[in-house]
Amino acid sequence: MVIKEAKFVTSNTRADLCPQTDLPEYAFIGRSNVGKSSLINTLTNRLKLAKTSSFPGKTQLINHFLINDDWYLVDLPGYGWAKVSKESRETWRKMINFYLRNRPNLACVFVLIDSRLPPQKPDLEFMEQLGTMGVPFVLIFTKIDKQSKIKTEANIALFMKTLKETWEEPPMYMTSSSTTKEGREEILQFISDVNRR
Ligand code: GTP
Ligand code: MG
Repeated sequence: MVIKEAKFVTSNTRADLCPQTDLPEYAFIGRSNVGKSSLINTLTNRLKLAKTSSFPGKTQLINHFLINDDWYLVDLPGYGWAKVSKESRETWRKMINFYLRNRPNLACVFVLIDSRLPPQKPDLEFMEQLGTMGVPFVLIFTKIDKQSKIKTEANIALFMKTLKETWEEPPMYMTSSSTTKEGREEILQFISDVNRR
């Protein structure tokens, strides 16, 4: 898919203030620093569309980007950062749950997982929540440029094996690197296929 246009629309803390639209949207979520905002920039070929940082906790709001006047990418704040207070964690949980429950146009959530790590509890718990809410999601294992292909494959295999313990049908997954742009075409093709459904 060709990205002809990508524009920032709004930043919000509340789903009811997000764009009123029937256009499909795709939200990026995952642990802080996993590479959500970077992947949005990679997909759109825009260096600074979504704000990124080497420090966790950069994205704090629900950010909508309109692509080709046809569908939205949504950058969300991350979870699982140890230094966050209990209060902030609760604020995040409420904001995200409200968003997930109140966007009928939410076509799919991309849950980003750091390909370098063994299965992490916050990721497994968040996926459980999505399952309970019936929100469609797929996994994207990020930062695959940071290690060998063999290591990435071993980590993904362990992750999927762990999922099989609780999921009858584990979700589909893709891999990505915002440095080499690997995965970009596959993710855009996935979006294009879902848009056409
Ligand atoms: P929060 O907004 O804090 O939740 O983080 P985020 O998930 O949006 O992460 P962000 O895109 O800001 O990236 C975090 C750091 O990881 C930045 O220093 C990025 O340059 C780096 N990074 C992201 N994706 C990749 C990748 O695919 N490869 C490499 N090598 N670095 C990456
Ligand atoms: Mg971010």
